[in-house]
Amino acid sequence: MKNSFKMIIDTDCGIDDAITIITVIKYGIDVVGITTVSGNVNADQVTDNVLRILHFLKKDNIPVFKGAHRPYVSLNSTPAKIHGNNGIGDIVLEPPYKTYNEEPAPYAIYKLAKEAGNVILLTLGPLTNVAMALNLYPDLPKYISKIVAMGGAVNVGNVTRFAEFNFFFDPEAAEFVLRHGVPIHLVPWDPVVATPIFESELKETFQGEEGDLILNMEKSVMDFVEKARGIRAVFLPDPMALATFLDEEIIKYKINSSLHMELSHGSLLRGASIIGEGSGIDIVVEVDKTRFLNFFKNIFEGGKV
Ligand code: BDR
Ligand code: CA
Repeated sequence: MKNSFKMIIDTDCGIDDAITIITVIKYGIDVVGITTVSGNVNADQVTDNVLRILHFLKKDNIPVFKGAHRPYVSLNSTPAKIHGNNGIGDIVLEPPYKTYNEEPAPYAIYKLAKEAGNVILLTLGPLTNVAMALNLYPDLPKYISKIVAMGGAVNVGNVTRFAEFNFFFDPEAAEFVLRHGVPIHLVPWDPVVATPIFESELKETFQGEEGDLILNMEKSVMDFVEKARGIRAVFLPDPMALATFLDEEIIKYKINSSLHMELSHGSLLRGASIIGEGSGIDIVVEVDKTRFLNFFKNIFEGGKV
């Protein structure tokens, strides 16, 4: 297993963020800290969700740091309705023993990355904290071996026709991070929407106590997708970022390119990500669904952590 690295997770936890965190823990990755950011729900609720998920996993020892409440400039900070009022499908998990750490998320990202060295920074939400950290600590890139991110859209978005939620929520932050030259493994919305996971597949893939939690959280999403698209299925954006990083065989097609954000206010394209001439960002375009599901099946059929 490819887990001889330390990881920091930055998240707007979110149902699929929660699935990703559970998977990371079950996979046995050494998580040195989790930072939170507004996105699916506000940063306070996100922080509470992360603490409860960690408690459920008996991983209260992993430090949690609260981050940005608002995007850099964007006024459009509407939460994503699909995750329910509390962000985790309105499931109420046991309260944690402990609270979040005092230090703000951007500082924590820097401190933890410097201590760990060669860290993997897994970003599952808007890039506000990461942009702030890169701005405050210019030597931060030295300590990050890769940013593994979910965000952006090559051809098809989910907030507008052109823009995906994480990058749309804070496009200035996304642009700042994309320009920084840190190696990025990116899963945009395109391969995610091409890979609906049907209810029966979800049940077969995620087993055990954690699997039950995942199915319960995803119920409201399935209702939502059924109304919107007429299929009982979910999409797994954040888990796809993690899985394609850990098992490259899942990737059927990827490109290496530069990526730029459209930032004009009032433009129909604001928040869209546009492929550029340059290189540096590995963008996953197509995945093998069977291998993707098997990745999780293998991890979850072991039962409890
Ligand atoms: C992204 O937006 C959020 O709702 C999901 O958690 C994911 O990170 C997909 O566009
Ligand atoms: Ca997310």
